[in-house]
Amino acid sequence: MELQDNVYTIQGLKVLDICEEFGTPLYLYDADKIISQINKLHKAFEGINVKLKYAAKSLTNINILKLMRKQGVGLDVVSIQEARIGIKAGFEPKDIMYTPNCVSFEEIQMAVELGVTINIDNISILEQFGHVYHNTVPCCIRLNPHIMAGGNTKISTGHIDSKFGISVLQMRHLLRVVETNNINVVGLHIHTGSDILDAEVFLRGAQIVFDAAREFKDLQFLDFGSGFKVPYRQDDPTTDLNQVGSGLKDAVQNFCKEYGRDLEIWFEPGKYLVSEAGYLLVKTNVIKTTPATVFAGVDSGMNHLIRPMMYEAYHDMFNLSNPGGTSRVYTVVGYICETDTLGSDRKLHELREGDIIAIKNAGAYGYSMSNNYNSRFRPAEVLVINGEAKLIRKRENLEDILRNQVEIDI
Ligand SMILES: Cc1ncc(COP(=O)(O)O)c(C=O)c1O
Repeated sequence: MELQDNVYTIQGLKVLDICEEFGTPLYLYDADKIISQINKLHKAFEGINVKLKYAAKSLTNINILKLMRKQGVGLDVVSIQEARIGIKAGFEPKDIMYTPNCVSFEEIQMAVELGVTINIDNISILEQFGHVYHNTVPCCIRLNPHIMAGGNTKISTGHIDSKFGISVLQMRHLLRVVETNNINVVGLHIHTGSDILDAEVFLRGAQIVFDAAREFKDLQFLDFGSGFKVPYRQDDPTTDLNQVGSGLKDAVQNFCKEYGRDLEIWFEPGKYLVSEAGYLLVKTNVIKTTPATVFAGVDSGMNHLIRPMMYEAYHDMFNLSNPGGTSRVYTVVGYICETDTLGSDRKLHELREGDIIAIKNAGAYGYSMSNNYNSRFRPAEVLVINGEAKLIRKRENLEDILRNQVEIDI
């Protein structure tokens, strides 16, 4: 979003006009920003045979998936439902990586039917997979590299206590299951966590995958997951992708030479591609002065953006309606019957009731983690693409809330 002559715009469109047209609360995404993030990643990994698989869970709207496909990006999905949405969005099943965790074997079988790449993350499922498919269906194996990394324990997935992946310490057991069932392992995968600042973590993870890869003869790709840190605050440090790229380039080349095959290197970015492209636009319903602070109560809350309450995540925000106003301190809270603070002690240009606040970094894990707590409607979603603001999801209504409730005689 840009500030021109005291007016915020996206691709030349006034954001306040978009709020007027579609109402608030509103999730607003900028397609140009998504495309520029894809290009930045490709640039950082120049010289490596990299394939990007967008982590659909971060923002699952089918139009965003279509945009990714148009840009030549594949898909990373974590449920059969996401896989089906991906296919509906036009992805070839072969371009979809399915990485479920703790799902039933029946769900894995459904994914095999769809033809997507199956990523298996526990030995029990691997055994069942081997009994049923032997070497007829290729698969990938998700390893747990035992690396503690990530911005918050809830989003750290590669450590010893994590439920994800098959421990690299279980390699002997894993190989026994693979060999006795003649399983066709074509890929190895790790995903250590989200919000990883330290480039070394990615390089260390890669070395662990290379070590494991020496045990498998028929690999076609190595998937290093994701976790690239994006800025949530002004001047926030971010993962040095050039360091990751240049560090990996030699390491991958050397390993491929030793392995005797040019393996594809996959990454599964979610946040990096969509976080900064999205804003949650909310209206200030009330200004409430207490002995302790000044609350700005908005027409949204943890039901629409759960990250601040769930991960103590910091989301920067600004007053769209009064960019020239005097700066004052506010605690911005939602309308949910629970303490749902979106931002404490924020310096914002003076807020008046009715002013629109833009909450940044709302593209990733914003709408996709929203819910109907307090029977509130989820917001509409709008994508600005080719200079036009397009509605890509309608705001919910009471019928949506009641749709699956069954009234019985009481
Ligand atoms: C398996 C897997 N891949 C990729 C991602 C995307 O991570 P990020 O949004 O940090 O890029 C996740 C997120 O949790 C994940 O679980």
